[in-house]
Amino acid sequence: MQIFHHIESIRGALAIERQRGKRVGFVPTMGNLHDAHIELVRTAQQQCDVVVVSIFVNPLQFGLNEDWDKYPRTFEADANRLREVNCDYLFYPDEGEIYPNGMAEQTRVVVPTMTDVLCGASRPGHFEGVTTVVSKLFNIVQPDLAVFGIKDFQQLAIIRRMVEDLCIPVEIIAGEIFREPDGLAMSSRNGFITAEERPKVNILNQRLNQAQADIEAGKRDYFAIEAEARAAIEAAGFRVDYFSVCNSKTLEPAANDDQAITILGAMYTSGARLIDNVSFTLGEEMAPGTPVSA
Ligand code: PAF
Repeated sequence: MQIFHHIESIRGALAIERQRGKRVGFVPTMGNLHDAHIELVRTAQQQCDVVVVSIFVNPLQFGLNEDWDKYPRTFEADANRLREVNCDYLFYPDEGEIYPNGMAEQTRVVVPTMTDVLCGASRPGHFEGVTTVVSKLFNIVQPDLAVFGIKDFQQLAIIRRMVEDLCIPVEIIAGEIFREPDGLAMSSRNGFITAEERPKVNILNQRLNQAQADIEAGKRDYFAIEAEARAAIEAAGFRVDYFSVCNSKTLEPAANDDQAITILGAMYTSGARLIDNVSFTLGEEMAPGTPVSA
């Protein structure tokens, strides 16, 4: 695996790959790689000839009171994991390389829909930081395909929208959520969960599954479903940021006759903010008022 710190050098290497007719896959990350990231790399490898991973803990997407400074930085271990799975290129720029004119003067990429709700409501400016850095990384790597984890469902939807709106010629692929045996979605922030909290944090995943089961069984009072989930998560000792039954395409609160549903949840432990989601499609026979047969 070749490691590059500078834009010009990775561009040079990838230009040669492209001249040779190679299809380039890309997995942008902030490092502290775990099994779910490695699955994203494998997904890219299945569809591409060469795969690039980037590691950059992007300060532009962190709020002032957030965890940018304590975000885990584990470069050597990350590079070793990528070597083990035969990743071809690792792009590891520093802040000066990505923001040479400073963050305040950086041109921004703004997606006007879906960015102020859910995670965007409690993390103002977060998605602007994500779309800005992802579009820069796309311009640097110029991949044919890029893979993003579906755990960050809202991020994925916003990036898809950015790519569509700006005619960026990159195919966006969703990588499945990778879970611990008890259902906890893998995340770099799971390292901030205390030993005492750990047995209880799968409450978020449990309540998402319960809400899905309730809706699939015909319940349509989404407000009540959300309130019940929030109460259960709070009873387990965690503060809820949001728990919302949404239309999968718009991320607006789901209407009773919506068929593509995503339920998204976020909660705070003492040291981390955890997110998770489930998506499913309701059949025509599941329209409101329709009796559900066993
Ligand atoms: O999901 C992430 O790790 C980050 O938001 C991303 C897409 C690498 C942009 O910094």
